[in-house]
Amino acid sequence: MALERTFSIIKPDATRRNLTGAIVKKFEDAGLRVVASKRIHLSKAQAGEFYKVHAERPFYDELCEFMASAPIVAQVLEGENAIAKNREVMGATNPADAAAGTIRAEFAESVGENSVHGSDAPETAEVEIAYFFSGLELVG
Ligand code: CDP
Ligand code: MG
Repeated sequence: MALERTFSIIKPDATRRNLTGAIVKKFEDAGLRVVASKRIHLSKAQAGEFYKVHAERPFYDELCEFMASAPIVAQVLEGENAIAKNREVMGATNPADAAAGTIRAEFAESVGENSVHGSDAPETAEVEIAYFFSGLELVG
């Protein structure tokens, strides 16, 4: 299986509750390596650009407000099958449906404030990584 990279965000509900370390530990315990990381505070416009695929959804405005409400931690995770593995460690979008032991089951507050983002396919991973990081910042 090929080494793969995916994009991850630790969302404002989690940074606000000081859960960054606990969430990174979940990634590392699953065999994912943090090869780039930065803590930033998005503007609502920047959050809107990132989530533009959801622009027509009823939750879009609230989602952009939330993503700009406190700092996030943007990361690139590397590992075997990293995209699927990260989605597995994250758990289902709605924490009520997330499997026991997943990040969202343990930490998410609601379907909107659900602690983490993770890319869903190689194409989105590439676009999302490039939105947040230059090649020079992918340090391994
Ligand atoms: O994050 P994930 O890929 O699991 O879910 P998504 O369907 O791509 O939705 C993106 C984000 O929108 C979710 O992680 C939630 O923060 C938010 N969302 C929401 O607020 N209400 C929903 N009914 C669905 C998603
Ligand atoms: Mg998604």
